[in-house]
Parts: sequence; C-alpha cells; structure tokens
Amino acid sequence: MTPNSLILSIETSCDETAVAITSGYKILSSLVTSQIKDHQPYGGVVPELASRKHITALNYLIDEALTGAKVGFADLSAIAVSKGPGLVGALMVGMAAAKTLAFSLDIPLIPINHIEAHIFSVMNNYKELKPPFLCLVVSGGHTMIVLVRDFGDYQLIGQTLDDAAGEAFDKVAKALGLPYPGGPEIEKAALKGDENSYKLPKPMLDRDNYDFSFSGLKTAVVYLLRKLEGSSQFSVRSSQPDIAASFQKAVTDVLTVKLMRAAKQYSIDKISMVGGVSSNNYIRSHLKAEAAKEGIKLYLPDKDLSTDNAAMVGMAADYSFKQQKFSDLKESVNPNLALVKSGE
Ligand code: KG4
Ligand code: ZN
Repeated sequence: MTPNSLILSIETSCDETAVAITSGYKILSSLVTSQIKDHQPYGGVVPELASRKHITALNYLIDEALTGAKVGFADLSAIAVSKGPGLVGALMVGMAAAKTLAFSLDIPLIPINHIEAHIFSVMNNYKELKPPFLCLVVSGGHTMIVLVRDFGDYQLIGQTLDDAAGEAFDKVAKALGLPYPGGPEIEKAALKGDENSYKLPKPMLDRDNYDFSFSGLKTAVVYLLRKLEGSSQFSVRSSQPDIAASFQKAVTDVLTVKLMRAAKQYSIDKISMVGGVSSNNYIRSHLKAEAAKEGIKLYLPDKDLSTDNAAMVGMAADYSFKQQKFSDLKESVNPNLALVKSGE
C-alpha cells in the first residue's frame, strides 16, 4: 500500500497567494492571502503588482503552513504547484519557489493544472466521490462543463465563447459602481433587490449545446443603465439591488439549465460546481433545488475552497503522487494551459 503523502502546495496563478499542507484529501493547513486591496484602486488585477505581492507573501506563508500543520520540511513527501492557466509572472513566482523547495529537499515536484485543482476542491468534503460525474467550473477565468470520466481523464462538454461567468459578475459590478471583485458585491446587493424587475437576456439557453456566452448579458446591463440614466428619478445607487438581482438570476438560470440538461443527456446522476462563482449562495441554493427535483446528487466545495486556494492543488497532487506522476526541474509554467488537449 502506498503510504499517505504529505504535500506542500503553492498557488499563485492570479491575485491570491496560497500555501497548504495536505495528506490525501485531508487538509492539515491552508492559508490564503488575498491581494484584493492592492488591486482595488485599479478596478481589476494588475499582473506585475500580483507577481511582486506573491514574492513578498510566499516565504512567510510557507513557514506558517508548516507550523499550522505541525510538520517540518523533512516530513514532506512532495511539492505541488499550479502550472497554469493564469498570469505568467504570477505563476512563475510559485513555480520558482516550488522548484527550489523540491531541489533542496530532494523530493518530487508535481505540477498541477489550476482547473483540475478546482475539480478536486470537493474531495475534502466528499472523499467517497467517484467518477463519472459532471463538473461545472465557474471562476473569473473559466466557465465550462467537464465530464470527469475518471480523475485525470476529462471531456470538455461545453465552455464560454467569450467572458467567464465571474468576469461578467466583475464587469457588471464595475458598471454599477461596485468594487472589485464584483461577485460577492453583486450577491450582497441582490439580497435587497427584486430579481424580476428587469428582463435580461439568457444567452445560449435555446442553443442545443453546452456552450455559454456572458458578454452579451453584460452589454445588456450596460445598455439598460444608459436607458435608465435618461430618466429623471434614476440613480445608479438606487437601481443597484434590482439590476444585481436580475443579472444574478439570468446567470444562474443559464448555468443551471445547461448543467441539468447535460446531466440528462449524458445519463449522469452526480454533479459538482466549483470555482469562485460557486461560493454564491443564490446559485448554490438554486442548483440544489433543481438537482433535488431531478434526483441528482450535488457536490459542493466548502466556500473557502470555492475561491482560489492551495489545498485543492494538494488534493489534485495526491492523485498524481499515487500514480508517481512527477516532473523534473525543467518544468515551466503555461499561462494558457488547457484542461483537455484539443480533439480529446
Ligand atoms: O476561482 P477564483 O477565485 O479565481 C479564478 O480562478 O478565476 O474566481 C474568482 C471569481 C471572480 O470573478 C469573483 O467575482 C467570482 O469568482 N466570485 C463570485 C463570488 N465570489 C467570487 N461570483 C459570484 N458570487 C460570489 N459570491
Ligand atoms: Zn481559480
């Protein structure tokens, strides 16, 4: 029997610096420092700033993660790191740190696809979950439905043709004068709004495929705002809740309908939803209700594992560790790394 691995994982693909220690699907420590405050004045992530902030945060987080897990460098079996997709400079910081640790401790290096790491984020809650299942990945950079035929064996069923769902949340929030990142802000504003106040388009809903498109929905909100601005009683602040609620409903309907349709067509009775957008309570409860209606079991990560973190990297790495899938020090980052090679 393979002994349980003790893996230190590093995640620096965007604006969160994260380090975790995991053993199998058990999380011994998981630390995330967000750079949101640094990027907020610019209304989005500034890549060069993200790289520099990763450099200053990483050593401290590595020490704290080891202390939190009550282990030392000598106890580690491998170092895992997000190889991509993400911001090239940000990824390079994590990769350089991971290679240095693997070399100096003389233990294996495990490069991990960040999207695959999100797929593994549910495993901490559901260690018994076995493929096949359908996974909806909804983050700031990606929106896709993946058929997990087996761990490491993925089929892309559909994906966004333009903006990711999280990106649409961020852009609509900006148009409404809400700060970055927009997802949690829209969710909060929507609590005070009426989701039926504006009829917004539900893109791609009538198409017989599993692709998404959120750019048109964002544009519809911008046009709606322009139209409302013409009226004398209008103020962006007072219209925020109703627009936020209507937008959130449109995104939720599209995501839910497409995922449930895919489950039916592929005769799959297990679905999961992962990535930053999956921390949204409205989307969670809507999907839960629809899944229950269809007798489908829904698997959700804890909210702190929905958004970027290193524990999910560690859980994905454990699978590679058991398969002895290691890399050498020639490994490099790939900002455009795909989950599935085209044609598969
Ligand atoms: O997975 P993630 O942390 O990073 C990427 O890999 O992209 O996702 C970040 C995205 C952002 O676009 C953010 O606005 C969105 O997830 N997000 C949310 C919520 N929390 C974060 N979107 C909707 N509702 C939320 N509560
Ligand atoms: Zn992510």
